[in-house]
Amino acid sequence: MKNSKLKNILRYDEPLARHTTFGIGGPAKILAEPQDVEALKELIHYAAGRRMKVCVIGSGSNLLVRDRGYRGMVIKLRRGKFQKITVSGDVIASGAGAPLPKLIAAARRSSLGGLEGLTGIPGTVGGAVMMNAGYKSSIGDHVDCIRAMDMKGRIRTFVKDDLKFGYRRSNLEGYIILEAEFRLEKTKAGNIERDIKELSAHRKQTQPIGSRSAGCIFKNPQGENISAGRLIDLCGLKGRKVGGAVVSDKHANFIINSEFASSKDVLHLIKLVQRRVKKRMNVDLEMEVKVL
Ligand code: EPU
Repeated sequence: MKNSKLKNILRYDEPLARHTTFGIGGPAKILAEPQDVEALKELIHYAAGRRMKVCVIGSGSNLLVRDRGYRGMVIKLRRGKFQKITVSGDVIASGAGAPLPKLIAAARRSSLGGLEGLTGIPGTVGGAVMMNAGYKSSIGDHVDCIRAMDMKGRIRTFVKDDLKFGYRRSNLEGYIILEAEFRLEKTKAGNIERDIKELSAHRKQTQPIGSRSAGCIFKNPQGENISAGRLIDLCGLKGRKVGGAVVSDKHANFIINSEFASSKDVLHLIKLVQRRVKKRMNVDLEMEVKVL
């Protein structure tokens, strides 16, 4: 790709609030949405040549961007070839930029089970794999192979044995996930449908869907038999506000951007919650949401 063509896809001082589900965050010096691997590689080289830091996002659904924004290049993988999903036998290959709900729908149409536990998670496939998203099962349990790019533009394939997934983490940090292959199990379509319906109903009933948030703010504490949401609730923090940020009345592990909250408001509220839970329950809550 010629540099002039590359320049057509660069957006300067783009407000990142438009690219996060929180609807919060200052501008990126540059935001670019490549449509294929070649363009992505060009972008990496362009940024490296200018000593510009790079950050890759998907749908920005697990992200809190600071008010001052990001003085580097944000690469958003949501378009073109990064969205492609193909099914072949019991294997589904998905571009990193495909929305997770689309992947789950494709698996359901082919009567392939395993991913239905991820119902309701709004992120992209790349983001979900990077963070090993999940609930009943984690996405990493079903990954067979990953194609990723390093920060020098080199492509590497990770087979199952190369991959390590933990609670909300993977060993893919530092790479840009391009594509993931999932090996799934032939399952009765009716059973998949039933599980998806149950999970969607549970979420609708228990989570503030439709409000601007980044999903659960904190990880569930490992080794404790109690969820972060329950702990925060027991501390009486539902409805607690800092500026425009408020702890959801419906699910205490969600912070809502109610009235033009700033990133600073959200971070203050996060600290307040962490302090209170530590004092009352002696538990350290660790953030699940990434701060940029
Ligand atoms: N609970 C309360 N008060 C609250 C919230 C929850 O008492 O305000 C109690 C519930 O009654 C329940 C327990 O805490 O007994 C667990 O609640 P829930 O079933 O909602 O699950 P969770 O552990 O809070 C996890 C994931 C969610 C995922 C749901 C699916 C984490 C940190 N959270 O929540 O993921 O949607 O299960 O039910 O793993 C996310 O990752 O962004 C996320 C929201």
